[in-house]
Amino acid sequence: MCGIIGFIGERQAQPILLDCLAKLEYRGYDSCGIALAGNSLKVYKDAVRVDKLAKTMPLLSETVGIGHTRWATHGEPSQVNAHPHCDCGGRIAVVHNGIVTNYQSLRQKLTAEGHNIVSETDTEVLAHLIEKYYKGNLEEAVKAALRDVEGSYAIIALMAGESKLVAARKDSPLIMGIGDRENFVASDVPAILDYTKRVVYLEDGDIGIVTKEGVRIRRDGREVTREEHKILWNAEQAQKGAYEHFMIKEIHEQPKVIRVTVAEYMANTESVFDLTVTSGHLDTMFILACGSSYHAALAGKYIIEELAGISARSEIASEFNYSSFIPARTRAIAITQSGETADTLRAIKRLEEAGCRVVVITNVVGSTASRIADRTVYIRAGPEISVAATKSFIAQLMALYWLALSYSKVDIRRLDNLIKGLRQLPGKVQQVLDNEDTIAELAGRLSVYDNVFSIGRGVNFPIALEGALKLKEVSYIHAEGYAAGELKHGPFALLSNRTPVVAIVAQDNTREAMLTNLKEIKSRGAPAIVLAEEGDEAVEELADSIIAIPSVDAIFSPVINVVALQLLAYYAAKHRGCPIDFPRNLAKSVTVE
Ligand code: AGP
Repeated sequence: MCGIIGFIGERQAQPILLDCLAKLEYRGYDSCGIALAGNSLKVYKDAVRVDKLAKTMPLLSETVGIGHTRWATHGEPSQVNAHPHCDCGGRIAVVHNGIVTNYQSLRQKLTAEGHNIVSETDTEVLAHLIEKYYKGNLEEAVKAALRDVEGSYAIIALMAGESKLVAARKDSPLIMGIGDRENFVASDVPAILDYTKRVVYLEDGDIGIVTKEGVRIRRDGREVTREEHKILWNAEQAQKGAYEHFMIKEIHEQPKVIRVTVAEYMANTESVFDLTVTSGHLDTMFILACGSSYHAALAGKYIIEELAGISARSEIASEFNYSSFIPARTRAIAITQSGETADTLRAIKRLEEAGCRVVVITNVVGSTASRIADRTVYIRAGPEISVAATKSFIAQLMALYWLALSYSKVDIRRLDNLIKGLRQLPGKVQQVLDNEDTIAELAGRLSVYDNVFSIGRGVNFPIALEGALKLKEVSYIHAEGYAAGELKHGPFALLSNRTPVVAIVAQDNTREAMLTNLKEIKSRGAPAIVLAEEGDEAVEELADSIIAIPSVDAIFSPVINVVALQLLAYYAAKHRGCPIDFPRNLAKSVTVE
């Protein structure tokens, strides 16, 4: 949820830390700070964005430091609550991502022992605990402090007069980046891509010791070695380039993402989805995820049932975690772009504890989900920086199509047509993107409303949900995604000329019912914006506005429709002057339950 960075080398740390922090802002951006260590500690932090903090700082020559960009959980965004947090002596600084769940009792104890705790955060106790246990060795002090701590953490500790960083993690991601006589610690890869592509993933329980000469890992009192990974993403992929926002850049990358992801699956036909790793019964497949990934999971249910003839059950991971019934011998798939979503990780662990083996679909190599899964299938979306998921959603759909096709029960002719259809999808998505100006103009008209419904049926019901989520998160328009059939079971009471309805009319067995819905909507005076195939006369009669969608096999229509809805949300947000890449109160990866 928060972004953390540490640097040690021969160069000035300050500009590198600020640069890396700016790249981490998508993880949280309500405050930020850095600490630099020489003979003394220098800390600069505030409830501002990184560019603003940079302007308030003098030039500093230290070559070792840590930084943090925050998504507040304990205590409002303020200077005192911003990280890094320090001990009483002002010699130890800590940045932290995660939640110290027993911080209240630790706080009481430390206060009784004479520590002066000044912030409302759970993190500050870590700095005081390290101070308490420090007997001349920072790494031993961190280890001792963490013995008292319950909850999740990725931390970096820094101490005045010590030329090293000490890092540790539990249930929260942390990597070490290896450079040339300079090394890094970071919460994720995009932060350090400009500096190195060589990374080592820390495991829960590891203590990472980072000096300018190298990185070491200690665990249970012993030195351990971990494999070094080469990151395939490049720095440009994590930059906006000529685009105004990451969101629109990533929307435009989608034809390529489809091409790359599908090509990789086609090249490894047999091994991509080897569901034999998921033991047991073949009757039901569980698909678990959160947010947009859950919408992909829900679309996956329709896709898998139709193409593979396997019954599928999609569940919101956080809710699945409350169910007392865990299907021990069922196949399960977990979908998570980041591979770090706490609720999804918990669901995976619960399933595994119950004896169920889990296939994870993720975008991030080395993510926690990939490391705890029985098998990992990567989507090839590249780094997704925009908080609003777009290209990862499309790539997740590709993975689900491929999974369904791998287990396909359709006849060979349909299978051929489907594969052909998959190959044509990049071109079809491009056609939607070529219609950008028209969608932008329509979004301008939509942007004046405060409430919107988004409806669909069948495989496009999850797309209606996703379209509503996109509108909510980037344009702040209150958007309700609904199964169109449910509209008259209550929400109809809200329909008026002030509540536009965005309706998806696909060329499948839902079409007639959607046309009936449109008639009902019209007779309540609500403006209807309809996504439909070009030249659909029945729709033309009923719609107030139409977004023309290219013709595809109906099972692929979610791909086309969601791109149109992403553009609608993006341009509605732009018309409303919203901070599109940094929506209020949100962060890219949700590492707390
Ligand atoms: C969607 O735009 C959001 N970014 C959010 O709903 C996201 O999909 C959700 O938090 C799940 O993230 P994950 O895919 O990384 O697990």
